[in-house]
Amino acid sequence: MFWILLPLLCSLVRALAVDERMLALVVYDSRSYDIENIGQFDKEVKNVIDKLQNLDINLVYKGYNDEDLAILSSSEPIYDHLVLLPTSKKAIAAKSKFNQKTLMDFIDHNGNILVVDNVESALPDDIRAILNEVGIYPAPKNFRLVDHFESDGEAVQLTSQNLVPNSVVSSFESQSYYGTAASISNNRLLFPIVKATKNSITVDLGDEPITQDRTWTFGEQGFLSVGFQALNNARLAWVGAPSLVSDELIQWVFQEKNVLKLQFVQHYKDESPQNINPSLYRIKDQAIYTIGVSQYRNGEWVPYKIEDPSQQLQLSFKMLDPYQRLNLQPLGPAASTPQGPEDCFVYFANFTVPDHHGMFTFELDHQRDGYTYLLDKRVVTVRHLANDEFKRSWDITNSWMYMTSASLVIVAWLLFVVNFLYVGSTDKVKKNV
Ligand SMILES: *[C@@H]1O[C@H](CO)[C@@H](O)[C@H](O)[C@H]1NC(C)=O
Repeated sequence: MFWILLPLLCSLVRALAVDERMLALVVYDSRSYDIENIGQFDKEVKNVIDKLQNLDINLVYKGYNDEDLAILSSSEPIYDHLVLLPTSKKAIAAKSKFNQKTLMDFIDHNGNILVVDNVESALPDDIRAILNEVGIYPAPKNFRLVDHFESDGEAVQLTSQNLVPNSVVSSFESQSYYGTAASISNNRLLFPIVKATKNSITVDLGDEPITQDRTWTFGEQGFLSVGFQALNNARLAWVGAPSLVSDELIQWVFQEKNVLKLQFVQHYKDESPQNINPSLYRIKDQAIYTIGVSQYRNGEWVPYKIEDPSQQLQLSFKMLDPYQRLNLQPLGPAASTPQGPEDCFVYFANFTVPDHHGMFTFELDHQRDGYTYLLDKRVVTVRHLANDEFKRSWDITNSWMYMTSASLVIVAWLLFVVNFLYVGSTDKVKKNV
């Protein structure tokens, strides 16, 4: 009997096992294309879909005009990631469930968004509004990046000069670019990845002559690919053409690249290392601060060793202002759990607590474009010396002169008294007689 039940049981267990893979929603133009037949998609967009399908994540496809298009369910996100493919239609059918506010809530709940634009794409107003909110201003429909010097037919030729130094994308998969451009604001959470060529303009090439009204960007003020990372580390990327969607970019948006984690933070006094994270320090104590940082790579946490000096981790010891701001020194890889694998890299700082008592904070605030932000604050009290902790007077060399002069006065006075009483003239007696 049991033998008959066993296979049944097994399949039941398998069905119950939760699929822990990430879930991404891909929104496409369902009026122009049929997702069952990916072959009819524009070649570049099809390429993006192929790239997504190669990933180890679950994909759900919905059209912009599907009535059941939603990203939140009772204000909780249904998906981990969102990919918005180009569409030439401006409207979203399920506007009550997919709009600027729900997109913002999605980001607030750590959702990641990849927006793929192209020349013919209008991007629905709500998507455009969320992009504008983070500071990306894509050109309107039918605007195209043109460059009469560096072009190959209609497409603009990109070179490594166009790649803004960044930590997300290191090379182009295709150098010929047929797409649109955006101007960006100075939002500090935003960083450009690819910029337009020097002699390019973004323009609506209609029949009429080019005027200022029909140009969007000039030269290098136009950007073709832009990244944004919110303070909660949710990521968003916008590209002006599907050809710029590289595997590196997808990995970055989907939190597989440049993801850091603070495994532990410890501070202690040099003289009592057994007492971890004390809440009380004394002025001029020698303090040691150590942290362990991991990086996510291929599904596991590995030590994060900094090679690039611009990524230097820093510690501030501050009370309103930083009294100390120190570069953390590398110590070596370590395990964050006892008997665990070596999964983090340890950094430390060794410094003297300032000669000032009050409430101080050990603050690690690491914000680098394209990397997970690391923030940690530990508040401690720094007290002044207790009555019996001051140096004795004889330990202070400056006091030696005063101590000597005081002793000399005492000795001189004793000598004087002795001299006055027992040494000296004998005619006193004679006078009295
Ligand atoms: C910290 O620095 C002090 C003074 O330079 C030194 O005596 C001490 O050994 C250092 N401690 C560690 C753990 O490096």
